[in-house]
Amino acid sequence: MPEEKETASRFRFVDLHPQAQDVRADVLAGLSTTPKRIPPKYFYDRRGSELFEQICRLPEYYLTRTEFKILKGNKQEIAAALPRRCWFIEFGSGSSRKVELLIESCDPMAYVPIDISASQLRGSGTRLAERYRDLDVFAVHGDYTQPSSLPDNLLGYPRVAYFPGSSIGNFTHDEAREFLLRTKHLIGHDGRLLVGVDKRKSPDLIEAAYYDADGVTSDFSLNVLKHLNDRTGANFAVDKFAHRAKYSEADGHLAMHLRSLERQVVLVGNETISIAKGELIHTEDSFKYSFDEFEKLAATSGLTCTHRWTDNENLFMVLLLKPESA
Ligand code: AVI
Repeated sequence: MPEEKETASRFRFVDLHPQAQDVRADVLAGLSTTPKRIPPKYFYDRRGSELFEQICRLPEYYLTRTEFKILKGNKQEIAAALPRRCWFIEFGSGSSRKVELLIESCDPMAYVPIDISASQLRGSGTRLAERYRDLDVFAVHGDYTQPSSLPDNLLGYPRVAYFPGSSIGNFTHDEAREFLLRTKHLIGHDGRLLVGVDKRKSPDLIEAAYYDADGVTSDFSLNVLKHLNDRTGANFAVDKFAHRAKYSEADGHLAMHLRSLERQVVLVGNETISIAKGELIHTEDSFKYSFDEFEKLAATSGLTCTHRWTDNENLFMVLLLKPESA
């Protein structure tokens, strides 16, 4: 049973957090594959979440401000397209800044933020519960990439799933398809999915967004190793790795890696991991889509696009999807 706590009148905190033992096994599994991998969810400890907030404010990182502009410029139209008095379920809610715009215009009954970072979830969840006095906030501390990310008793009707920031791009196409399918079942026939998607564009613009001049993304990238040291007792030497971000225009695929600066051995629990000089550890994918590509992908999961909002420069799109039969 998840732990449930009432910390403010309309705020509940539901803890589905994975145990330390699971994290170690998860990390070891990823480091035993070729190429080695660390799941991107481990970016987000307290420091990682702070660094991500800084990334969102960088001049090179056009995604956040563009999506915000799209939401602000179209909030009435978005509200009109959503079911009234809905439950808003946000995947990877982080600071919950964008959803505030929608809460004001859409007037939902309940807000269900799901996030891997407990500290951010508590901070933003209580802030919203205090600000919007008639809004129920059920904060779920969990991993939304996994199927069982929501306790059944937290589901009200009708449901709008909200997945901003182009986090859908952090899934491979197969994972995105599975996620969209699960979301379709979660929202039910009268529900909607509002999703932010980063568009294909000039490779230079995309790579700059993941290679900023101030090195904030590099700090974010390397911080995952510090987080794993804290969580699993591993002994990664952070200064023996470098951040790498490369975009393949053919695949619309930005890949982030950590490059080992020397031959080294790392201890994770009782296991030793050998890493060659120059070896890459994959940490994150960030896929970019044309509208047609995303529409086709969603259709394979039984979702149809009913509305599309974009910015003047065509950098980013916010899409509203509904189950095909609806
Ligand atoms: C969370 N996600 C949408 C970000 C992205 O752009 O793929 C994560 C990120 N990684 C490095 N910079 C931002």
